[in-house]
Amino acid sequence: MSDPSRYLVTAALPYANGPLHIGHLAGCYLPADIFVRYLRVNRKDVKFVGGSDEHGVPITIRAMQEGKTPQEVVDHYHAILKSSLENMGISYDIYSRTSQPIHHKTSQEFFLNLYNKGLFEEKESAQYYDEKVGVFLADRYITGTCPICGNPNAYGDQCEKCGSSLSPDQLINPHSTLSDAVPVKKITKHWYFPLQQYEPFLKEWILEGHKEWKNNVYGQCKSWLDNGLQSRAMTRDSNWGIKVPLPDAEGKVLYVWFDAPIGYISATKELTDDWEKYWCDPNTKLYHFIGKDNIVFHCIIFPAMLKAHGDFVLPTNVPANEFLNIEGDKVSTSRNWAVWIDEYLKDFPGQQDVLRYVLCANAPETKDNDFTWKDFQDRNNSELVANLGNFVNRTFVLMHKLCGGKVPPLHGEVATEEDQQMINAFAETKQKVGSLIEQFKFREALSEIMELARKGNKYMQDKEPWILARQLDANGKVEETAQKKIDMCIHVCLQLCANLAILIYPFMPDTSKKMLKMMKVVQRMLFWENAGKAKLLSVGYSLRAPELLFRKIEDSEIEAQLEKLKSGTAKAKEKKEAASATTYTPLKSEITIDDFGKLDFRTGTILTAEKVEKADKLLKLEIDLGFEKRTILSGIAQHFTPEEIIGQRVVVVANLAPRKMRGIDSNGMILMAENHEGKLFFVSPGEVVGNGYTVR
Ligand code: MF3
Ligand code: ZN
Repeated sequence: MSDPSRYLVTAALPYANGPLHIGHLAGCYLPADIFVRYLRVNRKDVKFVGGSDEHGVPITIRAMQEGKTPQEVVDHYHAILKSSLENMGISYDIYSRTSQPIHHKTSQEFFLNLYNKGLFEEKESAQYYDEKVGVFLADRYITGTCPICGNPNAYGDQCEKCGSSLSPDQLINPHSTLSDAVPVKKITKHWYFPLQQYEPFLKEWILEGHKEWKNNVYGQCKSWLDNGLQSRAMTRDSNWGIKVPLPDAEGKVLYVWFDAPIGYISATKELTDDWEKYWCDPNTKLYHFIGKDNIVFHCIIFPAMLKAHGDFVLPTNVPANEFLNIEGDKVSTSRNWAVWIDEYLKDFPGQQDVLRYVLCANAPETKDNDFTWKDFQDRNNSELVANLGNFVNRTFVLMHKLCGGKVPPLHGEVATEEDQQMINAFAETKQKVGSLIEQFKFREALSEIMELARKGNKYMQDKEPWILARQLDANGKVEETAQKKIDMCIHVCLQLCANLAILIYPFMPDTSKKMLKMMKVVQRMLFWENAGKAKLLSVGYSLRAPELLFRKIEDSEIEAQLEKLKSGTAKAKEKKEAASATTYTPLKSEITIDDFGKLDFRTGTILTAEKVEKADKLLKLEIDLGFEKRTILSGIAQHFTPEEIIGQRVVVVANLAPRKMRGIDSNGMILMAENHEGKLFFVSPGEVVGNGYTVR
């Protein structure tokens, strides 16, 4: 591996809106960790940074769904994400969060740097606005029918069915996901980053300069660049996020995809005062590990931002993975179709390496892949237990039984072609594995290591030391040549165990350490330079008893997991249905059409509104009914301010007997709709209807 001064490795900041699942791990955390551990055992200067992404639309939606504040949501999930990553052995140097003050400061400074250079376009535009909830509907807040494929649940930025990227304006029949309202257009100002200006730079840098990037990554970049880039708003209307650091920007925050990648910089700052060494020195090699849905942000937008800012290194590579499905179906948090890491670790305590192994062996490196519990069981039982675990266990058992618990000596006179071939395989495998890791081909690398273990099993099987042990001499001791052959075999197998322990370290660190502990060499052995050597353990060194590395996974455990998956998704469905069911209050008792005919509804407009003294629920409204103006007292003061409802179109029950409240006559009632949370909405006749019309 070429030898720059240092490495900086990042893994995408997961949104703090749900727990960690295996799709996350297979997508970027595991590959990043394998790469980092490999660099560390190569004695490289490397920092591995990440954290939780705590801003943006998904968080606010989750908060709304759970009836919590966004802060409560991110606190809850940040803790789960952090401990799940840690327990899976993802060895960050720092796992931070974007709510840290240092991150707010770093992001605002970054924004101001571009702003002060006059790089942003300030534009007003009409954007969809939900009048009921009172928010602008950015990105995912809008759903509607996809103009391309007709999917009725397409989002404002993308149709997940046909994959087209959309703008909210293209949606047919748009609806707010927050209230189901039909959104209206309202003018708002934002700061746009003119990505098109960076097209020449990006084309040169990626299309010419990084042809070595993975096909899936290079291909996506090429298609974005071929289609032409456009200005993108780097701010949003929201009260959750990092405030836009400008005087005239009340209610505006930085776009989450502006601030989140800057989180890599903030986390490095938090980690070390030397952070500039990692971000500003051209000798740094920067690697972003991500899932495929993050490619455009890490290969195009963030590099353009870094370029615009200046002084920062650009990524050397962005090894993105595709998606991992589960049992043939897309992972879905809302449908609870997932294998959650915190639950896995409860069900399979201490077996994080098994999951690491299976996810790496089946990693979606070049195409989407499928995780199945059956495959999990098969790989554990036939690869980890029967191959690697079995080899190590047999070697140690025989060493204790036939060689006095010590590393036996070599005897050149009984050496054969097979011994030499076995020994040669150490270095060959080490070379292959290293080169594959450096090309981000982790699954192939892992399979080379397992192939080496398989060779070890075959070698031992061919040598049959347990049969040799039956060749006893007259005194009942193993005959000399036989013992020499046994020593030879066990010696080579032990050296192979040491090699395997080093080679599997990036993939299965816990197993590696267990093996090294059995050999009593944890401290000094764990360096890549040791792998490939045939003399890692000295002759006569006494070793510990074998510890069981893996255990068989039973059918019943797999059935339980499948059951859990199915009942989990069924429960999520029930919960959704129950949530919408409870929103309906039971109907009142039946009335006749004549009863209904007695009611006189009229359309009107609120002309004035004011608070009523000593009545904190009441507003006094003057309403234009076309043929007359009415005073009506309405119990909505805790839901609306007087200013915001002036001009509101309403429907009035106009023939209700007058009622005196707080000394004022109220002549009627206005119609309001109430949702299950007690939130009120005006029943509005709309703009085109005049005042005083009858409603029937
Ligand atoms: N939170 C994003 C996701 O889960 C990833 C953010 S990566 C960062 O898709 F670079 F922006 F931090
Ligand atoms: Zn579509």
